[in-house]
Amino acid sequence: MTNSILVTGGAGYIGSHTVVQLLEQDHHVTILDNFSNSSPQVLERIQRITGKQVALIKADIRDRESVRDAFKSRQFDAVIHFAGLKAVGEGEAFPLKYYDNNVTGSQVLLEEMLQAGVNRIVFSSSATVYGAPGQTQYHENLELAPINVYGRTKRIVEDMLRDTNKAQPQLRIALLRYFNPVGAHPSGLIGEDPNGIPNNLMPFIAQVAVGKREKLSIFGNDYPTPDGTGMRDFIHVQDLASGHLAALNYLAENDSPLIVNLGTGRPYSVLEMVNAFGKACGKDISYQFSPRRAGDLAEYYADPALATSLLGWTAKHGIEEMCMDTWRWQSDNPDGY
Ligand code: NAD
Ligand code: UFG
Repeated sequence: MTNSILVTGGAGYIGSHTVVQLLEQDHHVTILDNFSNSSPQVLERIQRITGKQVALIKADIRDRESVRDAFKSRQFDAVIHFAGLKAVGEGEAFPLKYYDNNVTGSQVLLEEMLQAGVNRIVFSSSATVYGAPGQTQYHENLELAPINVYGRTKRIVEDMLRDTNKAQPQLRIALLRYFNPVGAHPSGLIGEDPNGIPNNLMPFIAQVAVGKREKLSIFGNDYPTPDGTGMRDFIHVQDLASGHLAALNYLAENDSPLIVNLGTGRPYSVLEMVNAFGKACGKDISYQFSPRRAGDLAEYYADPALATSLLGWTAKHGIEEMCMDTWRWQSDNPDGY
């Protein structure tokens, strides 16, 4: 069935890949984005990939008037809420900026969507809500104890949505806890385009490969992992995107809250990623070992079984595709959009 979906943050990395899949499934999509961490160029790329039009509202989710107008512009069936700030270090330095953008912004959005009679929301949460639980495989039942500001903003929004769902059961919620998104659309037309020096591993490796950075610093080689480097559950952004479509289908048929991990369940080490990327791009990635990064855990990965049983969803793309698709995007667009 064709639905009309409002996608906040739809011009961003994960949002743009999800919008492509929504359009491919014949949904009508409106992106609401303030372009604080993305480029309007994305819209043209999405249209090139899909041959379909996407509506745009340039607005901030904290701006109540604009959000209200957005809900007046069309009767939406559901909201997918990606808009937010996500840099862990920046959140520590500017906590109020993060609480304002992520928490206040989500509250305004939620109030206005309910006011407009829109009763389904899929929210971008993060594995970071688990904190440091003392085990490496994360199941959804673990207590949430985030260890940074960014993670606390995600937990607060999860609580806000769960509490509202309890009080107003007509609100249907999906909280998707992403592990480490990497990769790009196989066309090479859209991908991750960080501002400045990348914080995250994969975009840093890609910039070394394309000659924009000299070498990667690998933060720590003395972790209790097989090769001593950190291990993460990297998940292809195309798989993450398809998880959102599965969540929308779930909300169309179920009124119980959906709270699931989106990961592969198979962690890779930093060195394994470096080596796989070297193979994909046909050159060695220069690196040096550096001290551990504050706040990093040695290893964690998803238990993805609940998402599989509730949604029939599993991640399908492996490490080779993660690296090949990132490389295609990076080499075709060395300076991003
Ligand atoms: P992104 O920065 O590429 O996309 C976020 C988009 O939201 C951007 O286009 C930005 O311009 C927009 N935005 C930010 N604040 C806004 C505001 N106040 N009003 C309107 N638009 C606003 O990030 P992403 O990697 O695509 O992440 C999407 C969501 O997923 C975020 O909520 C993020 O916290 C969450 N998440 C990301 C990761 C990751 O590693 N990428 C992991 C877990 C969760
Ligand atoms: N790493 C390096 N060098 C770099 C960057 C990263 O060695 O230049 C290492 C890190 O130490 C870690 C691994 O690569 O061991 C992954 O680091 P990322 O920064 O790519 O990702 P994180 O696991 O730290 O965190 C990411 C997002 C968070 C999100 C979390 C969810 O940045 O926002 O995944 O699991 F919450």
